[in-house]
Parts: sequence; structure tokens; C-alpha cells
Amino acid sequence: MIAFASRTGNVRSIIHRLGLPNVEITEDLMMTEPFFVFTYTDGLGDVPLIVEKFLQNNHSFCKGVIASGNSNFGHSVFCKSADTISRKYHVPIIRKIELRGFPRDYAAIVDQYQNVFEREVSL
Ligand SMILES: Cc1cc2nc3c(=O)[nH]c(=O)nc-3n(C[C@H](O)[C@H](O)[C@H](O)COP(=O)(O)O)c2cc1C
Repeated sequence: MIAFASRTGNVRSIIHRLGLPNVEITEDLMMTEPFFVFTYTDGLGDVPLIVEKFLQNNHSFCKGVIASGNSNFGHSVFCKSADTISRKYHVPIIRKIELRGFPRDYAAIVDQYQNVFEREVSL
């Protein structure tokens, strides 16, 4: 499962391309299964507030983070939301993506998704 947040449509567009099970983050969303969180980056490298609140409630099921950002904001804050979530909740960074990304980004996410979630199912 991928729990995602999208403000201007880039993350949503990637989610549709991936074709993996997904759910949009809402204020009260409670997860009952493992997931990757997929977020955009706000402010100057910030985790969007709705994502931060969601993770406070659900981080125990979180297995990794994917972030979309815009490198025009500068190297030090590009997709920094992923670094913050990774450090705070001790989850791996699956991928940092420039805006809507490229086919190699989608392939990498699908590959990691299969690694993490198919292994869990088979154990
Ligand atoms: C107000 C604002 C602040 C942003 N700050 C950052 C930033 O600090 N670092 C970054 O990598 N991207 C930043 N971005 C870019 C977005 O994270 C990027 O466009 C992302 O693809 C948006 O995803 P969405 O269309 O799903 O909302 C910012 C965008 C906006 C509108």
C-alpha cells in the first residue's frame, strides 16, 4: 500500500502511473497494514503538515518514504521531506523524485515495493 499526499497533482500523477495499491492521506486516515508514504515537499524542505500528522498516528506501519520535490529550490532542500521522515521514523528513503519523475523512478519504486511487501506476504 502507498499512502500519498498531493497538492498540485504531481504525486497523484505518479501514483496513477504506478498502478500499485494506494490511498490518499486525509486528516483522520488510520492504516491497518504496512505502507510506503509518498509526499511532496513544502516550505523550504518541509514535510507537509497533513503528512506529519498522519505519520504521528501511523508511523508504526510505515516501511519507507518516497518524496517529490523541485530541484530549483536548491540542493540542500530538494526532497528534504524524505530525509526528515527517514530520520524521525527510522525508515529508508525509497526514492527522491523531481516533480513528476521519469520511467526509471517508477521502475525503482515498483521494484522496492515488490521487495518489501511481497517478502512480507511470503514470510
Ligand atoms: C510553496 C512550495 C514550496 C516548495 N518547497 C519545496 C522544497 O523546499 N523542496 C523541494 O524539493 N520542493 C519544493 N516544492 C516543490 C514541490 O514539492 C513539487 O512541485 C512536488 O512535485 C509537488 O507535488 P504535488 O504536485 O503532488 O503537490 C515546493 C512547492 C511549493 C508550491
